Amino acid sequence: MSNERYFAIMASHRKNKNTDTALMKYIEKLEKEGAYVEKVNLLDYDIKICTSCYYCSRNFKKCVIKDDMNFFYEKFEEYDNFIFATPVFFNNLSTLGKIMVDRSQMVYAANTFFSKNFKNNKERGKAVIISTAGAPFYEDQFTGVESTLKLFFNNLNADVVNHIRISNTDSN
Ligand SMILES: Cc1cc2nc3c(=O)[nH]c(=O)nc-3n(C[C@H](O)[C@H](O)[C@H](O)COP(=O)(O)O)c2cc1C
Repeated sequence: MSNERYFAIMASHRKNKNTDTALMKYIEKLEKEGAYVEKVNLLDYDIKICTSCYYCSRNFKKCVIKDDMNFFYEKFEEYDNFIFATPVFFNNLSTLGKIMVDRSQMVYAANTFFSKNFKNNKERGKAVIISTAGAPFYEDQFTGVESTLKLFFNNLNADVVNHIRISNTDSN
């Protein structure tokens, strides 16, 4: 039995479709193994685009924009393990997913421009990616998602341990 705790982010622009369904299946499996998972749909949150103001480079752990991203910053601190589920859009994350990831520039800035870090966990956490893509598998279909999310999770002190890639969803 596992007593791991995960924060799961559903980044599809549609609820209960390919990405959401694949994520729910994965969560069920983890829960059967005894893990605790808190799942959120990005669709339910108001997250504005990063304006590249660099406020976070001068102010430790602070973003000048006041919106629902504050909830995510809190969850990034609270959890060590993460799941990120996204449809593939132009070989990369969904738009909603990318907007949220861009706002984690504050986490990168906290780790890079200050003597302290965003997170204090000594052991690195685990990150799982779930991607769904409409076309049959082709080279580079998932490389954008993986490279972007590796960077994102590295800032959160987590290593990508699994990337579940589901191609050909548009044939359903
Ligand atoms: C804007 C947009 C861009 C997409 N780009 C790709 C792509 O580059 N490669 C691909 O295989 N599928 C692409 N698709 C198909 C989606 O990845 C696929 O339908 C996915 O399973 C949708 O997830 P959902 O059911 O959770 O919405 C794209 C779909 C949309 C709407």
